[in-house]
This record gives sequence, C-alpha cells and structure tokens, in this order.
Amino acid sequence: MTERPIVIVSNRGPVSFRWDDQGELVARRGAGGLVSGLGPLVIGTDTTWLAAAMSEADREAASAGVIEAEGFRVQAVSVPAEPYRMAYDVIANSTLWFTYHGMFDRPLRPRFDRRWREAWQAYRDVNQDFADAVADAAPADAVVLVQDLHLALVGPALERRRPDVTAVHFSHTPFPGPDDLSVLPDDVAEELLLGMTGHHACGFHTARWQAAFDASCEAVLGRRGRSFVSALSSDPDDIEAVAASPAAQAARADLDELLGDRAFIARVDRIELSKNLLRGFEAFADLLDHHPRWRGNVVFGAFVYPSREGLPEYLAYRQQVETAAEEINRRWATAEWTPVLLDTSDDFPRSVAALTRYDVLLVNPIRDGLNLVAKEGALVNDRDGVLCLSPEAGAWAELGEASVRVHPYDVAGTADALDGALTMSSDDRRAQAEARRAIVSARSPADWLDEQLAAAR
Ligand code: G6P
Repeated sequence: MTERPIVIVSNRGPVSFRWDDQGELVARRGAGGLVSGLGPLVIGTDTTWLAAAMSEADREAASAGVIEAEGFRVQAVSVPAEPYRMAYDVIANSTLWFTYHGMFDRPLRPRFDRRWREAWQAYRDVNQDFADAVADAAPADAVVLVQDLHLALVGPALERRRPDVTAVHFSHTPFPGPDDLSVLPDDVAEELLLGMTGHHACGFHTARWQAAFDASCEAVLGRRGRSFVSALSSDPDDIEAVAASPAAQAARADLDELLGDRAFIARVDRIELSKNLLRGFEAFADLLDHHPRWRGNVVFGAFVYPSREGLPEYLAYRQQVETAAEEINRRWATAEWTPVLLDTSDDFPRSVAALTRYDVLLVNPIRDGLNLVAKEGALVNDRDGVLCLSPEAGAWAELGEASVRVHPYDVAGTADALDGALTMSSDDRRAQAEARRAIVSARSPADWLDEQLAAAR
C-alpha cells in the first residue's frame, strides 16, 4: 500500500439518484462492472470518488457538494447537460465503445460528420472539466486513478495544473489493435493515444488488450507509453454478504420453488449489444429444438437490465431481447413450464440469487474487457454450476481453463456446449467449480488497487 492519498475518477459513480413517488431523492448502487468491482475498495474509507452527475436527480444531489451515500464519499462533477450528452452518448458510447468492442456494421457506420466533430470537442471539454475538478479536489501528492474510455484525456490536463499528483489510467474495456483503431479519423486516434499515454501509466485487464494498446501506440505515435496488466476481481466478502442478505435469500427461495428439480441456465448482464444476448436466446431455442430431452426440464433465467437507453441501438436491442424471450415461450411453454424467465428489473440481490442457483452460467460476449459476473458466479454458486464462457471475455485469460468454451457467433455450437455443460458428470462439475473458485479467490480488489499504486511509482 501507499501513504499517498487516493482519488478515483470515473464517469459513472458508485451511487446514482432518482426521485421516488413522494419526490424524495433516493440513492441506488450504480450499474456495471466498474462500480461493483471498485465499490468495495473504497466503501467506508476517505477516498474521494469524483464522478459525473449523469441525470437531473444526480445534479440536484450534487448541488449539496460532497455526497455521503451508501458508505461512499462522492463528489459530483456537474457538466452542462448538452455537451455532457454529446461526450457520453456520441463519443464514449457510440464511437469509442463501438470501436473497442468491434461493434460497427462497417458499410453503414461509423460516419464522422461535422456534427460528430462538435461532439469530439464536447468530449475534450468534459475531460478538461474533470481534470479541473480533480485539480481542485485532490489532496497534495495524491494518486489519481482515472477510469475508462470516457476520460482518456484527463491525465495530461491534470498534470499540467497539478504536477504533484500522479495520474494512472485504467481501461475496463477491451482495447483495439491498429486495424480496429483505424476506423477513427487519424487525428482523433492520435489525440486519444496521446491523452492515454499522457498518464503516468495505462492499465488493462488482460495481456491481450495491453498488447493491442502497445501495438496501436507504435503504429500511430511511433512509440509506446507505459502500460501494465492488472485484472480486477470480485470481493468475496462483499458478494457473499449480498448472497446472504434477506432480499437475496427470499429471491432464492422463490427461484427454488419456481424451478423445482429442473435444471437452470442463467445469465446476468446489462442489456448491452456486446454481451450477445440475442445469440444466447437463439442458442437456448436451438437446445430445445435439437436436444429434446430438455423440453420441460430446463429454465433459462436472463437477469438483464436496461442500459444506455439514450441510444436508439440500445432501445431497439431491448425490444429484440424481449421479443426473443416471448417467442421461445410462445413456442415451447406448457401449463407447467415456462422455458424463459426474463427479468429486467435491475434487482441486484435477485441477480445474485440467480448466481447462487445456476447449473450453467452463460457468459458469451462478442467482446468484453473482463466480465465480473463470471467471477461473482464462481464465488457464490452452491451447486457446482458450469461456466460457459466466450474466449472474447477478458476473464477467459484467468478462467478459460476451468470453463466450457462458447464461440460467441456459433449459435449451434453454443447450444451443444449448453447441453454438454448440463450433462457434465458431477465429478467434472465439482473439479471445474473448485478450480474457478480457487482462481477467483486468489485475487481481491485490493490487489488490483495495489497494482495501480505500484504503477504510479
Ligand atoms: C462498463 C464500463 C463502465 C460503465 C458500465 C456501465 O462496465 O466499463 O465504465 O460505467 O459499463 O455503463 P454506463 O454507460 O451505464 O455507465
């Protein structure tokens, strides 16, 4: 550990706010892996976490200054709504996220027009606003941990104002090599990499993303920056406490009653295109079609919650997800059996309850920086459930050897893999589950934090 004070900076903070029916502001835990991984590290400490006020309710909560909620000390960075929307929706989510996850349908997109250039300027401005907010708030000699693709340009702007602080950047996403990065306009790719390498060091979850980053720096800048690999892990105590909570226990009892002795395939994800939800449903439909013994005998629980609904792609994707689930139920359901359980309620204890109960956990992203759900499942599952994992998830580097491989685009292959996982011998199930638990328990979020601090030296 270090004696230096720590500041965390990210777009999404650990808590978000909304107004309840009585008009009162209520806090809830933020969505996604970044928050669930980093949250336990700082809860109850004096680490300040700077994050964007993303909604009007967040802005109102932020007007009070530092917010103490759910054990966090959060300082909201209030950026004017329209530039913020352009930086978040147009640049971070529609451009960088799509580039990093290989999600463009290239004959049609991307398209960098004049309007997009305004959004790029907004992204620069938001990064500058964050750098200024950190420069004002950071204690002397702090280590500033800048998170993710929303804030790639913070480091250089911050170090200009505060040479005493050390900024380390960490990407929770994949990173593209030169071929994939080359969809961005040349000057934008260069500015982005200059921003990232302007941090003291850049971290990634796996050697694969680090190698891609190094190669892109060589290709675009003609030199490398300093980079390191450090995989985040789930906090066993935190996730086990959620699993043991009354809310999760009640959800587990409901699930047990609903399932009886049927097998249970589960997934837990944001409704996010890179998570490959639709091919997951198609694979389940194929399983029922081609492996008839499972008709009536398996339930697929998709605990998936809405995300980034400001983007038309995500709204449409949510509808496609709902339709896919309905179609399977329409075709196969009987009076006693509903094959797909679709839960979009964003209820964390209920999702964790599903993770305790699965026989098979499906994690089949087309590309994913890490995937903490695979790790959380390994820690709380009590049935020696099998992990069906895409090698495109960063977690594959650690867990691939103790899981069943699913090629993200191979729907029929995924259905066969699900069948193989459901029929695996109990000895093999136990051996894989124990191996995964050992791998995941060997690291904690504190190791990740230590490695950021080591990278700051
Ligand atoms: C991923 C990203 C995070 C992001 C999260 C949720 O985990 O790495 O930076 O916060 O998704 O996405 P959202 O756009 O809702 O913040």
